[in-house]
Amino acid sequence: MAVEALLSLFSDVERPHVILTTGKGGVGKTTFSILLGALLADAGNKVLVASLDQAMHLEEYLKLRSRNKVERVDGNLYAVQVDISDEVKRLGKSYSILLSQLMPGLKVINVDSVVDMIKHAPGFEEEAYLRELSRLYDDKGYDFVVIDTPPTGLTFRILSLPRLYRFWIDRLIAIRERIVSLRYVIARTAGIERELDDPVLRKLEEQRETFERLLSSMTSPGRTTAAVVATPEPLPVYEALKTIEFMSEVGINVKIVVANRVLPASLAEVLGVRRVQEDSLSKLLSAKCPGPCVKLVIPQVDKAPHTLEAVKSLASSVKTV
Ligand SMILES: Nc1ncnc2c1ncn2[C@@H]1O[C@H](COP(=O)(O)OP(=O)(O)OP(=O)(O)O)[C@@H](O)[C@H]1O
Ligand SMILES: [Mg+2]
Repeated sequence: MAVEALLSLFSDVERPHVILTTGKGGVGKTTFSILLGALLADAGNKVLVASLDQAMHLEEYLKLRSRNKVERVDGNLYAVQVDISDEVKRLGKSYSILLSQLMPGLKVINVDSVVDMIKHAPGFEEEAYLRELSRLYDDKGYDFVVIDTPPTGLTFRILSLPRLYRFWIDRLIAIRERIVSLRYVIARTAGIERELDDPVLRKLEEQRETFERLLSSMTSPGRTTAAVVATPEPLPVYEALKTIEFMSEVGINVKIVVANRVLPASLAEVLGVRRVQEDSLSKLLSAKCPGPCVKLVIPQVDKAPHTLEAVKSLASSVKTV
């Protein structure tokens, strides 16, 4: 019943459809990403579960052999554990090449050392994550891509970037257009024919298009779903509610709310956490989603599910609210 309700959310979405699993560290993001991926795969879809979380638990649970390489895990189910340090290196290189192509004058101040410096600047790593995310969005090889996201604060910064970039790039384009037209007018006055075409402007426009496309995919309910996971405790629930608020601000559709590791009331009573669990659950499960939304409760099981089979067996005890 609960599984059908969950799968029904995806019956008429566009493919590839991206599901972003979010939540505080340790609440079961990776576990839920695997569970959802396996359920979608068992329903006949080709699914990739990709973890951007550097805790690398996807690799551990699914026994992946290497990082940054997609592996077939079972039937239609594929998985990849991203190690972001590779992308950070690639990004540094690509900036170094781009800078020397677009601004040959920079040769005087060694471009590589400039890039070495920016590598540690705030936002650089976020940009690397955004590139990975963008690549996952562009991969047409799957029906569904379930993304296990990094810690909440970092995820917020990554998901805020496309909008911010679009804003900055629009302004940069306006400035560059003024420079190019001024140059043209000055050249004409001096009797020199000058091309209006400008490589910097072209690059900016290309970047604008890339971020516009990503933003439109991220905010389209047909292409993106966010799943918010929490355990029934105050801090994880607080973070989950903040996440729902953030997603609605950036226009990403939260369609799944999961309360994971819920203890039976009797056990919660013995452990002295019954009130806290009840209060937290009620806050989480009464959270408002922007549209149709499935709320799930997954009980705490005796043995931590650290294999695909163990994660899949959670499906039989999932309940909807
Ligand atoms: N329903 C459950 N019952 C019992 N243990 C669970 C359940 N769900 C997850 N776990 C266990 O809780 C721990 C945290 O789960 P998981 O690794 O999926 O969380 P996470 O949010 O991805 O954490 P991290 O931020 O560390 O990556 C793991 O040991 C996992 O096996
Ligand atoms: Mg994890």
